[in-house]
Amino acid sequence: MKTMDATHYLLQVGIDRSKVPSFNEYPYCLPVCRNMTTIDLHPSVTFLVGENGAGKSTLLEAIAIASGFNAEGGSRNFGFSTRASHSCLHDVLTIRRGLKRPQDGFFLRAESFYNVATEIDNLGVTGYYGNRSLHDQSHGESFMALVMERFRGNGIYLLDEPEAALSPTRQLALISRIHQLVQANSQFIIATHSPILMAYPNATIYSLASDSISKVEYTDTEHYSVTRQFLNNHESMLAELLKE
Ligand SMILES: Nc1ncnc2c1ncn2[C@@H]1O[C@H](COP(=O)(O)OP(=O)(O)OP(=O)(O)O)[C@@H](O)[C@H]1O
Ligand SMILES: [Mg+2]
Repeated sequence: MKTMDATHYLLQVGIDRSKVPSFNEYPYCLPVCRNMTTIDLHPSVTFLVGENGAGKSTLLEAIAIASGFNAEGGSRNFGFSTRASHSCLHDVLTIRRGLKRPQDGFFLRAESFYNVATEIDNLGVTGYYGNRSLHDQSHGESFMALVMERFRGNGIYLLDEPEAALSPTRQLALISRIHQLVQANSQFIIATHSPILMAYPNATIYSLASDSISKVEYTDTEHYSVTRQFLNNHESMLAELLKE
């Protein structure tokens, strides 16, 4: 597996605590902000995992905005806004960059993918996305068209719950595509709940918890253990969950 050549565009992100106006107000009150000083990003793939509400999307969005992406998603050329709901965490974020600049990039969030598809239609650039409006394809098809056709490599890709669109088989296909793009000098930061995606071997997994942000091994994640336990014992677990 070719790993050492991956171009390291973003080395580290952190919170400049001296700039935080108050740790009692949103978004600075979130555990992800209170617990973070700096985290090192893997040159290939960094996963952000943790419970619903842990702050994964807030952190990824702040990294995206601080890196010049539109808050709702897209490439650096996207400037549309349907609802200005992003947090101001990026104001206190520090980013340490590598020497090389990425030539491509995309910020993709499941929750605003529809708006990104509309913007692609409006810009008349469907040629870069498989020559078909993303709106004329299913959620999973349009997502895969984007990743297969538009992501060109030598890029930084920030993905928020990419599994939301994808069947388990397509999640496996996404792992292959991520690997191709990593070998083409790309770096990914991915917020996910998918025990399939986070198995990508050449990665760092950060678990965002209420009291810490820590690196975890894949098999130590809750996603792995709960899914494994369920699939191995689904009948007895369901009997326990559903008992009156
Ligand atoms: N505008 C806001 N004002 C106050 N709190 C907010 C605001 N927007 C989001 N939050 C809170 O910030 C917390 C972190 O949200 P975030 O979307 O980052 O979580 P997440 O880890 O991505 O969760 P999920 O796994 O469900 O996507 C949540 O508890 C959410 O309710
Ligand atoms: Mg989220």
